[in-house]
Amino acid sequence: MKNSNLSRRTFSKTLLAGAPLLAQAQQGSKPARIKIDTERVVGDIDPKLYGNFVEHLGRCVEGGIFEEGSKLSDAEGYRKDVLKASKDLNIGLLRWPGGNFSSNYHWKDGIGPRDQRPPRLEMAWGTVESNRFGTHEFLKYTEMLGTEPYFCTNLGTGTWEAAQQWVEYCNSSEDTAMTRLRKQNGRQQPWKVNYWGLGNEMDGPWQMGHRSAEDYGKFALEAAKLMKWTDPNIKLIVAGSSNYGPGIDWIGWNKTVLEYLKHHGDYLALHMYVGNRENNYLEFLASSRDMDEKTKTAEGVIRGAMSTEPGRKMYIAWDEWNVWYRARGDKERGRKILEERYNLEDALVVATFLNSFINNAHIVKIANMAQLVNVIAPMFTSPEGMFLQTIYYPLMMFAQNSKGKSLELFVDSPKYTSKRFGDVNYIDTSAAYDNGNLVLNVVNRHETQAITVEIEAQDKQFSGPVSISEVNGPDIKAENDFGVTKVKATPRTATAQGHKLTMQFAPHSYTMLKVKLV
Ligand code: AHR
Repeated sequence: MKNSNLSRRTFSKTLLAGAPLLAQAQQGSKPARIKIDTERVVGDIDPKLYGNFVEHLGRCVEGGIFEEGSKLSDAEGYRKDVLKASKDLNIGLLRWPGGNFSSNYHWKDGIGPRDQRPPRLEMAWGTVESNRFGTHEFLKYTEMLGTEPYFCTNLGTGTWEAAQQWVEYCNSSEDTAMTRLRKQNGRQQPWKVNYWGLGNEMDGPWQMGHRSAEDYGKFALEAAKLMKWTDPNIKLIVAGSSNYGPGIDWIGWNKTVLEYLKHHGDYLALHMYVGNRENNYLEFLASSRDMDEKTKTAEGVIRGAMSTEPGRKMYIAWDEWNVWYRARGDKERGRKILEERYNLEDALVVATFLNSFINNAHIVKIANMAQLVNVIAPMFTSPEGMFLQTIYYPLMMFAQNSKGKSLELFVDSPKYTSKRFGDVNYIDTSAAYDNGNLVLNVVNRHETQAITVEIEAQDKQFSGPVSISEVNGPDIKAENDFGVTKVKATPRTATAQGHKLTMQFAPHSYTMLKVKLV
């Protein structure tokens, strides 16, 4: 653990001695600066940026959101503790049933009387899928959560007809064999599932039914036509790039698939997982720069493709993203898999990814953290209870507070040099402005130094109390566990008047400020 003693010492000074001691860490350097102008709007922040993802993988569904017979579940099998903590994440869109799982998922296996559903070999993750949790159970869960469902269709081993019939089963009001089946299974009214994925990670050789970009484009186009002719109101998410290894032409994949799908697709799905394999804290903390770059590149590809489609819009859906590098590899097969335990540095990377989504709010309209519980997730359960992982806190704070318009900020910050990205700001930011309320998100990437920042409101004035919430912990490797909360959000308040506000941001912290502008 690099520099953990120094780091721990600095953090306790923050708590005990407050601002004067923190200022010493910066002696001799001028403060960093952030300038805010409420007229410099990037775009509307879509609540679907705070999406999440539930896959039939490990203990995400079984033992996560759903545990039949558990003392912690309701009569239908939904875990009440997980549901409650999920509600606080203000989830704007919930993706299901995979992931890699979806590429061999036959949705009709998961409807009808639970005890009569067929168990199937599950080849993506090496288990048996009981099918006791299916379309009705998932849609009931989204209703309980108050969120929008997003279904990922099987374009791996599945057919155009199966994808079309799933839309019909869920959304049609006509009297057809599919809607009669739905009614027979207890649901009279259509649900109106608006978001549909055209397969998952079809660019990856690991995917069941992996295809070349041309083959995927042609195949997905026929599915898209049938799905939109069944319900013209649905939005379709095209499987964009997830495979960025050396020599992989991920830009070419996106270009090709959009040529086929630009008439029918509404979002281009991108996936990104990052990790700290080399145990290099600052390099790891710069990972959001990769996301920024890929967002901008994909935006260019979309613009190019859509230049022939006047009046049509296409956006980016980062519909799988997270830190994931410890619990993976060929060994990860079976039920207790991908159970990543998160620490403080992971939570900071998550906060910088959320900053990246907000800073690109004009084009990024969907983002789904992968995944909701147990599997690379912000929540972790046992049959006895649950705890909140470190990454839960930034996700919850962004989702509850950063709404309205995204603002473009001027940021002047001390920098460090990263191997991959060159100069990187220690101070990473985003801002949301909603009806006179400003939310400023600030990550201090510095491991040992507090950084003083002069925050200037250019066209308005700060007014009244500033509510501050800081995610931090004793050191960058600190983790939470059952009954142990080392990393969490700690609230405090300050007051602000006039155009300027000076704040000190503790080492290795994510801080959210909320203040009125008049
Ligand atoms: O989220 C875990 C897995 O990561 C998903 O199943 C797949 O889409 C991605 O490779």
